[in-house]
Amino acid sequence: MNLIPFLILLSAAFSVPAAGQDTEPECSNRITGPESVIPIPCDYRTDDGTFEIHDGMKFFIGTESRTGFKDESSLRARNRLSDEIRSLPFPISETSGPSGADLIISIGAMPDDESYTMRVEEDRIYIHAPSAAGAFYAVQSLAQMAGLSESGKIACCTINDRPRFPYRGLHFDVSRHFRSKEFLMKQMDAMALLKLNRMHLHLTDGAGWRLEIGAYPGLTEFAAWRPYRKWSDWQASHRHYCKAGTPGAYGGYYTEEDIREILDYAERKHIEIIPEIEMPGHSEEVIAVFPELSCSGMQYGSGDLCPGKEETFIFLENVLTEVMDLFPSEYVHIGGDEASKEAWKTCPDCRRRMQEEGLETVDELQSYFIRRIGNFVNSRGKKIIGWDEIMQGGLAPNATVMSWRGTEGGLEAARAGHDVIMTPNSYCYLDYTQDAPFREPVSIGGYVTLERTYSFDPAGDGTDIGSGRHILGVQGNLWSEYITEDSHAEYMYYPRAFAIAETGWSRAESKDYGDFRERSLSLLALLGQRGYTVFDLGNEYGERKESLAPVEHLAVGSLAGYSIKYDGRYPASGDAALTDGLLGGWSYGDGRWQGFLSDVDVTVDLGASRQVHYIGATFMQIISAWVYLPEKVEISVSNDGAHFRPVGTVFRDLSAALDGLYFRQYGLVCNENCRYIRLRAEKPQKDGAWLFTDEIIVN
Ligand code: ACM
Ligand code: ZN
Repeated sequence: MNLIPFLILLSAAFSVPAAGQDTEPECSNRITGPESVIPIPCDYRTDDGTFEIHDGMKFFIGTESRTGFKDESSLRARNRLSDEIRSLPFPISETSGPSGADLIISIGAMPDDESYTMRVEEDRIYIHAPSAAGAFYAVQSLAQMAGLSESGKIACCTINDRPRFPYRGLHFDVSRHFRSKEFLMKQMDAMALLKLNRMHLHLTDGAGWRLEIGAYPGLTEFAAWRPYRKWSDWQASHRHYCKAGTPGAYGGYYTEEDIREILDYAERKHIEIIPEIEMPGHSEEVIAVFPELSCSGMQYGSGDLCPGKEETFIFLENVLTEVMDLFPSEYVHIGGDEASKEAWKTCPDCRRRMQEEGLETVDELQSYFIRRIGNFVNSRGKKIIGWDEIMQGGLAPNATVMSWRGTEGGLEAARAGHDVIMTPNSYCYLDYTQDAPFREPVSIGGYVTLERTYSFDPAGDGTDIGSGRHILGVQGNLWSEYITEDSHAEYMYYPRAFAIAETGWSRAESKDYGDFRERSLSLLALLGQRGYTVFDLGNEYGERKESLAPVEHLAVGSLAGYSIKYDGRYPASGDAALTDGLLGGWSYGDGRWQGFLSDVDVTVDLGASRQVHYIGATFMQIISAWVYLPEKVEISVSNDGAHFRPVGTVFRDLSAALDGLYFRQYGLVCNENCRYIRLRAEKPQKDGAWLFTDEIIVN
């Protein structure tokens, strides 16, 4: 990113009162202090008095190291800190000695320690940190206090601050939609302000390969381009790629030079870039270029690479060698999620491999694959991270697990002595809608509010079993299938990235949602002034109103008998779920909605014959998650539980091709005397389609 527009925005956002000006600008009396900062500092005390930002401020950077800033890396870190201070939201210049400096920084020689102390006095600010990173974070706290202060005044205070977790990350899915390096750098500015220190780049996936690989130019000449901009249009077509330069080709990739620029910027911001090269699943784009690496040899068939073929490993090792040479991170993320493994079951190469290696199942074959890649990466002095599916069939030694399907996988890995990064989807998936879906952009589904993200504790019950130290931290993930525009991506990150930051940095005991929300409103306004698109937290609608209080109706507490059982993954409260008086919220995953991979056929026993005037149930549709409305719902009643008479049938009145979240009530007004009520919902004829309902309401 070009820094200059950013600096202009920074100075526009913070106006220094002109010397001699005797009238205060309106609304300019806000004095900020450590209690305004996100993430909230560990320990702080506010003292009497204020430090006033003024013209001609100066700073000095000193070191406690006996060798001074003599070695190249400490001098580089020092100079980069100096650049950062000069980009604070007020004019400030460097001076060669401490006397006369308004901001005095002293750096120690402990590069891995991110802590800092800061003392704001009426005429000076002192920062002391064991490392340049710690000093950088002190400067970020100062940047927030100054940026948020309308008066130009900062409360005198003392801050002792250090992170709770070493890994505080945000994930960027640049496969589904390529993002420019300028976009990534702009997000790094916001990440730095929030003390987030890991940027996970999901560089490869079925929707596009985004990294130039010298050995395989075809990956970016072909698999980085597609003839549709909107992912869902492309998905609904043949999911084919096209050559770079084809009229209308949509996509892009990072050259080696782009990556060097991104890495240089990241180093300035104390952010480690973690590259992800996805395998063995989600690899349609690789197979489109090299069909011989799949089991079938077909160009557009399965998205799984074939672990039976040596060529697959030769390809991946060549790619990983280039990736490891380019990215300084000690980690390479190798994906590992959602491989279908279907073709492996019948592929002769896979079967031979299983025989030779004594592997019983395709899960063990996946484990073989991941171990082999892990060993290769280890042999180059680096480590793998993988999504929690890499535990299937046995976890590779030295592998770090990124726990996304809840926290249990992560906790299990931590108990077994593996490092873990927590990113459970029901808290940390920032592609889930953050407010009522009817007023939000179309999303992949789910409902994760700022409060929900904030409520997550990465250590969970890991600390009391001694495995807490293996929990490296937390990450927010933004999958981008439905997020075409950069501005939409920012909207999804902010403010939920604030919650990830505070969860990763601040002490668990200091977290308070009400207070955090207030701070978030101010920081969102600041980011908005700085050109970010942000969510309108002040106008949040919130959860589905009908779900907030139990509903009274005749069938509450009645027994429900299932001719076809609900799916074990979405039982809600089990057999009582459809008569517990509790309606679901915006997400089918909230424990209120019961899920079926089949038709629904439920009979409710009211216990005695009653006069009934209404029977109905709500279903939802969100096709991005394979959740559909029933084709029809037949309702019948009975007095003996054996002989049913039809009340009527309600048909679907909404297209099964519409993106977005929809609820439909399938209900009938009637006048029946009955004890038993049977509701049969017919699933659409689509493999893998779900039905979800929350309650059978009888009145
Ligand atoms: C994932 O969300 N498939 C890691
Ligand atoms: Zn195979």
